[in-house]
Amino acid sequence: MLHEIRGPFRSLVDVKTGLVDRSIYADEGIYQLELERIFARAWNFMCHESMIPKAGDFFLSFIGEESVIATRDKKGELQVLLNSCRHRGNAVCRAEEGNARSFLCTYHGWTYGLDGQLIGVPGYKDFYHEQLDKSQWGLVRAGKVASYKGFVFATMDPEAPDLEEFLGEVGRMGLDLIAEKGEEMVAVKGVQKSVIGCNWKLAVDNLFDFYHPQISHASATMSGFRKQLNKLTTEEMDMAAKAGVLGGGLRPHHRVSMGKYGHAVGGPRITEEMLEARAILGDKLDGLVQDQFRDRPQAQEALGEVGLKQGGHPNIFPNLWMTGYQLSLRLPKGPSATEIWWFTFVPKEETEERKAEIIERANHVFGAAGLLEQDDGENWDQSTRAMKGVVAQRYPLNFGMGVGLAPVQRVAGVSYVDTNVNEHAQLWTYQAWSEWMDAESWAQLGQIATSAPLDGVR
Ligand code: FES
Ligand code: FE
Repeated sequence: MLHEIRGPFRSLVDVKTGLVDRSIYADEGIYQLELERIFARAWNFMCHESMIPKAGDFFLSFIGEESVIATRDKKGELQVLLNSCRHRGNAVCRAEEGNARSFLCTYHGWTYGLDGQLIGVPGYKDFYHEQLDKSQWGLVRAGKVASYKGFVFATMDPEAPDLEEFLGEVGRMGLDLIAEKGEEMVAVKGVQKSVIGCNWKLAVDNLFDFYHPQISHASATMSGFRKQLNKLTTEEMDMAAKAGVLGGGLRPHHRVSMGKYGHAVGGPRITEEMLEARAILGDKLDGLVQDQFRDRPQAQEALGEVGLKQGGHPNIFPNLWMTGYQLSLRLPKGPSATEIWWFTFVPKEETEERKAEIIERANHVFGAAGLLEQDDGENWDQSTRAMKGVVAQRYPLNFGMGVGLAPVQRVAGVSYVDTNVNEHAQLWTYQAWSEWMDAESWAQLGQIATSAPLDGVR
């Protein structure tokens, strides 16, 4: 361990100056406490209901580093079960997804029903002499399981507030930015998974980072990977910049929405100028603009006044990112490793051709073979390595861009700032991180979690 764990954790994140202590990315003790105080306590994304439509369907997910089985029992209820046999702890489910009638442990054969109940024990009569109370030895079940518009979440802590309360206005806005993309969103088969040698929080804070594309993704942009742009004239390229589809430049208008428990949405704000430029370019931007869904009345109602103009990327604290038709989990695998998962969604009612386009674009941009992910992953890996040294650890990181310079507005329960490129969403996330780490219980977290910043990011 590089440091003794120093509390309070708020001392490691200074929201007035934007300085963040590097130990939070490297310290093994801090990492272990994150698993306990953040992941074992928060609502974690499991899967989408369309991935487990029938009784017995299951999908293996994670809460922190712990494997959990998200399944649908015989009554059609969603269940989330800790994937560890109560006898000697063996994993009772080895497949990543499938359909099962029960979960048989491969060690001694204890068998669990889809609701986690222990239903079979070899030698129950002869070896246990019927002395084992099977009702007490079912798989550990999540404290709460719930779904928001088909997106299934679970928390291991029964004291957690209900999912909708946990999400609040900003968390719901974040999910609505993907859930409202069509009449009925369904998950595409297959989740892309790969490991990057970085601390999970670096992968999270990057999702709000619109400062890096002009440098990090310069090569991807130069390679012409957005093939629609290659056909544009110079004037049309200028218009495409105004339309906000170039991806590589610094766009002047940003919005950051900040919600209790660390949820945030940050990125380009949708402006009239942007919409006009898109209208002029029309079909030439085919597939590059993914905002048409905002015209749907249901989407307008769900997103509300602030959300409707909110572009960019949501993070549902701690580790669920939405971008376009994709959703990504950043699963912690130690202080220096993160498993990145990518789920892709399509509106069920869309044509097969349009669905294929969405999937192709998704694979092309993010995921193990995604051009942008190659660029990002390299930087996160190097940041994690270069921060570990005893000397490097003495110096804080700088998240101070624009701190205190943007007045916070509040409309319909959503606190947000409109400004140019900034690091407010990152700092908001780290502030929430420190609150989760300091709180010893959900009750305490509910009291200390900052819900509405008053000035700057505070
Ligand atoms: Fe599962 Fe023994 S470890 S039955
Ligand atoms: Fe990037």
